[in-house]
Amino acid sequence: MSLAADPESNPLLEALPTTRAAAPCAVVLFGVTGDLAHRKLMPALFEHARAGRLPADFAIVGFARREWTDHDFRADYEPVLAKRGGRDFAEVWARFAPRLVFAPGKFDDIESYHNLRKTLDRLDQTHGTAGNRVFYLAVSPEYFAPIITRLGEAGLIYPRRQETPFSRVVIEKPFGHDLATAHALNRDVSQVLDENQVYRIDHYLGKETVQNILALRFGNSIFEPIWNRRHVRSVQLVVAEEVGMPGGRGGYYDTSGALRDMVQNHMMQLLSLVAMEPPADLSADAVRNEKVKVLESLPRWSAGDVYRNVVRAQYTNGSMQGEEVVGYHQEKGVASDSTTETYVAIRLELNNWRWAGVPFLLRTGKRLPKRATEIAIQFDKPPTALFEPEDGSLGGANELVLRIQPDEGASLRFEAKVPGSRRRLQAVRMDFRYGAAFATPSPEAYERLLLDVMLGDPTLFTRTDEVESAWRFVSQIHEAWAQPGAPLPDLYPAGSYGPASADRLIEDVGRWRRL
Ligand code: BG6
Repeated sequence: MSLAADPESNPLLEALPTTRAAAPCAVVLFGVTGDLAHRKLMPALFEHARAGRLPADFAIVGFARREWTDHDFRADYEPVLAKRGGRDFAEVWARFAPRLVFAPGKFDDIESYHNLRKTLDRLDQTHGTAGNRVFYLAVSPEYFAPIITRLGEAGLIYPRRQETPFSRVVIEKPFGHDLATAHALNRDVSQVLDENQVYRIDHYLGKETVQNILALRFGNSIFEPIWNRRHVRSVQLVVAEEVGMPGGRGGYYDTSGALRDMVQNHMMQLLSLVAMEPPADLSADAVRNEKVKVLESLPRWSAGDVYRNVVRAQYTNGSMQGEEVVGYHQEKGVASDSTTETYVAIRLELNNWRWAGVPFLLRTGKRLPKRATEIAIQFDKPPTALFEPEDGSLGGANELVLRIQPDEGASLRFEAKVPGSRRRLQAVRMDFRYGAAFATPSPEAYERLLLDVMLGDPTLFTRTDEVESAWRFVSQIHEAWAQPGAPLPDLYPAGSYGPASADRLIEDVGRWRRL
């Protein structure tokens, strides 16, 4: 069974505009020579240009140490964007290229910021950018605070309550290394910026299917009454990845690990959206207030609690789709005695009225057999078993699976009678697929997020208190792992679903879902 968008139930569906209009502005990209700008940011801006979503008065300023001219800047990006294809490339590029302007400068040199200011003032005249500025910090995290401080000193940040013209600062991840550093960074940021001028990126929030969690829960009436401890037996959240350490990423990853890289940000965001209370409306603060309450209900653990409820592991060599791959310790940039985890499984309970007693089972890892991000809500079984379960029956435990990626969609498993004279049951699936239901492909996460910054909508960005609550939970786990005598990471072969030791976290409620 599959589902399609139903235009009859909503005749406006085709006609509705899918985006809002942004004000004129200049976007300053710090780290414009880097990987993120090449792979995600500039392509996202280019796609907006292609779709006619950029304001008519708009400029992109590349800020970096290199002594480039505007021409060099454009020449660097032309082949990168051309690779995206499209028969209209030449025409879109002809409109896009004149908006690219380069401002050479050093992140810690105040003179560079005075020059940047002159460039931006000039663009207000030549490109009509109206004094509106977005500063995007796609740089290594040690530069976040110095850049923001210099922006303030050079008068590039407008007063806190000023709405127009606006100055907004986008901060990439990782936001801090633990609770203490995240708190210190928030303090530095708040010296210069008001919270409503800060946009902390978690690209998972830009994914259409992540936003659909709220639509599914609060745009329908059938789920909410059963979305609680009275009907839910357990919730599983998984972010599985096939990749190991591509492009020499090992050096960075070894200082981070799965808990910092995936759990503190992306998985905590998924958890808060699945578990939050209905917000009063969809305004940024109403939504974020409810998410913070979930994060504040996370357990406070002793070291012993951590050892019982968290399993960490590293991949060893193995085989992925028939190809031999090296283990984590052999990856470039990784210390041969590293204890950094590439896999983590966590069992936790939220300490609030809706969820008390319901296990949330989180899993993420590199070099797992398949890329899949899913959330599965497993419901209670019927109180009595009237029917005979057949192989493949869940014994009545319904399951709603939200597939975040790939194959975005949702499916509901329920029991159906096997045809014949006996009263036998088998599980069947009702399936909704984004691709089949909606004709338009989902925009890239960075496209959505960049547009929201230009529109001044911070709903999909993490607030100070959200970041710190998530760090509080994660830092207690790191602290327990740092204690003498803490269990070392378990091992799993690349291409497997993780260490067998993770099974003990789930034994009493079922098993890890196969992906
Ligand atoms: C990043 C992590 O934030 O998210 C990476 O640093 C990870 O390690 C990536 O691979 C996963 O993102 P996505 O969108 O591919 O699921």
